[in-house]
Formats: sequence, structure tokens, C-alpha cells
Amino acid sequence: MVLPVVMSGKRMQPSRLLFCLITFSIILLIFSFVFLLQSSSSSLISKSVFRLILLNNASMFFRPNSDSDSGDKLSNSLPSPSPTINIKPSSSDIDNGCHDPNSNKETVDLGQGTNKVCDATKALLRVFMYDLPPEFHFGLLGWKGQVGQIWPDVSDPNHIPSYPGGLNLQHSIEYWLTLDLLASNIPSVIRPCSAVRVLNSSQADIIFVPFFSSLSYNRDSKLHGRGKVSMNRMLQDKLVQFLMSQDEWKRSSGLNHLIMAHHPNSMLAARRKLGSAMFVLADFGRYSVQIANIEKDIIAPYKHVVRTIYSESGPFEKRPILVYFQGAIYRKDGGVIRQELHHLLKDEKDVHFSFGSVRNHGISKAGQGMASSKFCLNIAGDTPSSNRLFDAIVSHCVPVIISDKIELPFEDVLDYSEFCIFVRASDAVKKGFLLNLLRGIKQDRWTTMWEKLKAIAHHFEYQYPSQPGDAVEMIWEAVSHKRASIQFKVNRHNRFSRSQLNSKSK
Ligand SMILES: *[C@@H]1O[C@H](CO)[C@@H](O)[C@H](O)[C@H]1NC(C)=O
Ligand SMILES: *[C@@H]1O[C@H](CO)[C@@H](O)[C@H](O)[C@H]1NC(C)=O
Repeated sequence: MVLPVVMSGKRMQPSRLLFCLITFSIILLIFSFVFLLQSSSSSLISKSVFRLILLNNASMFFRPNSDSDSGDKLSNSLPSPSPTINIKPSSSDIDNGCHDPNSNKETVDLGQGTNKVCDATKALLRVFMYDLPPEFHFGLLGWKGQVGQIWPDVSDPNHIPSYPGGLNLQHSIEYWLTLDLLASNIPSVIRPCSAVRVLNSSQADIIFVPFFSSLSYNRDSKLHGRGKVSMNRMLQDKLVQFLMSQDEWKRSSGLNHLIMAHHPNSMLAARRKLGSAMFVLADFGRYSVQIANIEKDIIAPYKHVVRTIYSESGPFEKRPILVYFQGAIYRKDGGVIRQELHHLLKDEKDVHFSFGSVRNHGISKAGQGMASSKFCLNIAGDTPSSNRLFDAIVSHCVPVIISDKIELPFEDVLDYSEFCIFVRASDAVKKGFLLNLLRGIKQDRWTTMWEKLKAIAHHFEYQYPSQPGDAVEMIWEAVSHKRASIQFKVNRHNRFSRSQLNSKSK
């Protein structure tokens, strides 16, 4: 009875609205009280029943949130005043972090309580992970287990093997995804239950290849000894050999495999042979469309290197610099535009456009610079993507993207035009164009984008354990979106082989 009133709240008299709000608050208070009396845990209503109600009647529980994308509804929407007691279990589920606020459009697993292993049958994605020897993954971090131990114990987040810092970290996606899968089997690690590792590959939606290819490239590309083959190259060759001999690969021709190759130069040797698989990439800059493309593969954000700013994020008037860019200016390929822009912008007084290495103090300086700027330029470098975009996002500096071929992470659920400015390279180099455009964006419009940035920045955080809506979760969700098309390709691929197998066995 209260519901329609609030739904149409915008059109009501203020005094009536106030009255309704008070009524609603009292009702909510009574229900909370009843709820507290009746239950010591959140078991008042069966989780599965609650899930059913929530999924089918989502609009009753969540106010339509027009100014916000699908990415961040739950956290800033009020529970609407449905006069049922199950509002409470819902908020306790949110509080314990075992639920993805990201996708109430999706089938989301809400039912996981604290200290329970995720239920594979209810997860968004069931993942089988090959037990590759440690030299392919944590061994590259210097981790050594007991004899025969393949995976580190990840039950204590304070004692997991750490990934090398500095610029290595920007491609550490391989590490976060693998950790998250390991954690999915450990009851004490509290994380969202989107992806679950299963030990039987026939029950998996996807087969995960835990090779830390970016680290292998960063660490072991040097040629060693007389053989003139790098460790990185050797591991890739071994990996190809391994995969080709697996039943899981043969059954699907690799179509349902997930391979991480975030560093643009990682997997250079192996990728052509493994091109049927789904890759996790930074961009498609170094790939031909046959091997990698947006239909098949996943674009994952870089791990940002500057510090995330939270409540101290400066509003419009606290950001004296209009436009900020710091980076290498002379790049090959698409990077010519950096020089042209440098030439156009370098003498403007409220523009910071300079050379700069991100090493040493460069990172914290860049962080401060971005946090003091209204707009941050992202200009195509030698590949279309760069970690600068994600640094800008977590600095809440509105990104200005000048990179015609850029592919953006999670664009199926995020509308980047709400918090980024896109400028064609051909326009950006016209005299006066860029500054006119940016000076024309007044405080109101800028502030709307800034608010949006603050709301979506958590989608670009990698962490362990993973948190609802963070980058790890978003990647699993993106992979789950491809599930139907993978199944389609696998079935198509197997038309003949299955028929022949059946006739042989008869
Ligand atoms: C959804 O809400 C409607 C109206 O409140 C109710 O009649 C219906 O049974 C609900 N559906 C489910 C699956 O709970
Ligand atoms: C794996 O799962 C399949 C299908 O659910 C089942 O037939 C098979 O027996 C399982 N294998 C093992 C080793 O449990």
C-alpha cells in the first residue's frame, strides 16, 4: 500500500511526501524490531525463497534508478517499503559482502552467508582450473610449496604470496583472478560468489588456464644460455604442448578456455596456436582480428598505479588545472598525435602537459596532478589502451579519450559517455578544438560526470579477497555474458565428431 506512493514521490506535495516518509520509517522500524525479536541469524526466511522474490520482483525492492547505470544500483538505492519482513535479510546479505550489487538484472547469487563455501550450482560461473605446475604461476612469484603442492594456501589474506610491485602490477590481472578462484573453495574467505572453482571439468562453464603470462613476459624475456630461448618462450611452448594434450581442450577445440594475456607482449609465441580460446586482454593493438576480437575476448582494466582517492576527492573549484597529461610524448604508431597535442597545448596556462616517467616519484606526483585536475587526457600511445585511463578514473579526473580504436572494459554494462569525454583524433589536433570543448563544459555538467566517476570507480579495483562489483567480479560477469556464444560454438564444432563417436560405440 505504501509502495505506489513512494514510486510516484516526485510528483507529490512536499507535506504529503514527508508524511509518507515518516509512516514508512515507522513501519520499517516496527518490522526491523519484529525481525530482531524473531531471529538471531538471518535465517528468518529461506534464502532461496528470498532470491526468488528478489529476482522476480526486483522492481518492488529497488527503486528505479534512472541516474545511475546498472553498475551501482544496490548500494545507493533505498529498500522500498514493501510491507514484508524480508527487507532485513536482504540488507544483511549486502552487509556481509556476499552478493554482487552490480547486476540485479542478472542472475545473481544472493544466498551465500558468511563462512560458507559458494554453492557451485548457484554460482554465476563454474570454472575448472588446470593444476599447472607452480612454474607457470605462483612459482614465478618465488613461492615454493611443500613437495607436490601446486597452490598456495590463500585462507589468510595477510599471508598470500605477493605480486611484484611497480609497473608489473598494472598487468596483474592473472594473479587476482587465480587467487579469487582458489578462494572460492575456502569457507573462511568472504567474497562474492560469482565464480566458483569446480574440480570436475564436465561441470564447468569455462576452463581457466592459470598461466601468469604478463609476469612471465616482464620477468623472463631475456635470452639465457646457448640455446637462445627465454624462459618466457619455454613456458609458452610447454603450455601449448600441455593444452593440446588435454581432453578438455580437444573436446572444445579450446573454445571454452580462458587465457590471460594482459600485457600486450605476453603470449607472443603461443597466441596464434591458442587463438580459439577466450583471452583476457588490455586491448587488441597487437592482435589480428582472427586471433583476438571483441566478440570472443574480454577487455580487462589495468590495475591503476596511483592511489585511489575517496572522500577527499576535490570538487570543481578545488581542481585548478583544467587539463592534465603526463607521459611519454614520443611514441611510435598511433602515438604521433601526442606530439601534435603537445605542440598545441604546451603554452596554455591551466594545462599541464609534460614528459614524465612514472617511475620513482613519478607515480605519486601523477596522482596528485590528476587529483588536482578537472580533465585528464588519454591519448593513444603505442597501443590503444593505457593504464592512465584507470589512474584518471580513481583520481576522479574526467577522462578525455583521444584514441579512436580504444576498447573499454565492461562496456556492455558501463556507459562511458556518462563519465568520459570522447574526442576523435582528427578533431583533437585542430587548433583550439580541444580547449574550446573542455572550457565549454561548465561546473554543473562536470560535477555530474565527477559524481558518476565516484560511483563507478570501484569497478576498477583489483583486490583480495574480491569485493562486490570490483574488477575481478566484473571480469567474471563479462565472461559469463559470453557463455551462450561459447556453447553455441562448441556445439557447432562438435556436430560431426559426436555423431561419429556415437556410431562407433554402437
Ligand atoms: C511478485 O509480486 C507480485 C505482486 O506483489 C506477486 O503477486 C507475485 O506473486 C510476486 N512474484 C513472485 C515470484 O514472488
Ligand atoms: C564429472 O561430472 C560428470 C557430469 O556431471 C559425471 O558424469 C562424472 O562422473 C564426474 N566425474 C567425476 C570424476 O566425478
